[in-house]
Amino acid sequence: MEERGISQAVIQRLPRYFRYLGELKDEGVERISSKELSELMKVTASQIRQDLNNFGGFGQQGYGYNVEYLYQEIGKILGLDKTHHFIIIGAGNLGRALGNYINFERRGFIFSGMFDQNLDLVGMEVRGIKVQPMESMERFIKENDIDIAVLTIPKAGAVAVAERLVQNGIKAIWNFAHVDLNVPENIQVENVHLSDSLMKLSYNLNRYMRENE
Ligand code: NAI
Repeated sequence: MEERGISQAVIQRLPRYFRYLGELKDEGVERISSKELSELMKVTASQIRQDLNNFGGFGQQGYGYNVEYLYQEIGKILGLDKTHHFIIIGAGNLGRALGNYINFERRGFIFSGMFDQNLDLVGMEVRGIKVQPMESMERFIKENDIDIAVLTIPKAGAVAVAERLVQNGIKAIWNFAHVDLNVPENIQVENVHLSDSLMKLSYNLNRYMRENE
């Protein structure tokens, strides 16, 4: 399947398609038209057709989309047909919340290890995974085929920890620390700022209140 020059905007929408299709599949729905999918997802049918045409389109005239096939194909595009092992650095509130979330496994992301510089936390278990000291991190990454690291530490230490992770073979970082990481271009970084999402909510709430005063 060709995937040349697909915009980030399209890529950002794919997980949502994947989620909806997963739910349809679980409900036993075998096929769906772009119109039905558009009503369900509250996006235009033409947007759906355009998005999916980026990948050669999956629909058939007069038939619509085969839910199972589309789900599998989008999963492949998102790399969800492979298994990834991840570690969490920072066993605080956020790190533990992420470690406790079981649905990552359903998507092929296996929670494999957890590390913290606070020795009081070492040995604590999060969903059967023991927190280890930072000194054990390098060896663990190599021995357990870890490709993703989740950074849930304050920004002060994040840049240095990211460098250590990269030196030891980590290929992707899911970064919750509020700082831009200085890593080589071949390392994939996804920055997450929940407060950005909250500010967007605040903006929409304010606009709604202004318009309905
Ligand atoms: P927390 O204080 O409960 O946990 C932080 C943990 O990181 C502590 O256990 C601490 O010992 C450990 N740590 C600190 N520096 C470290 C280092 N250099 N190496 C290894 N471990 C280290 O904090 P919480 O609530 O879990 O938040 C973690 C960070 O994530 C905070 O800095 C916060 O600003 C950020 N955050 C980001 C969000 C986002 O949307 N991006 C949302 C919530 C928090």
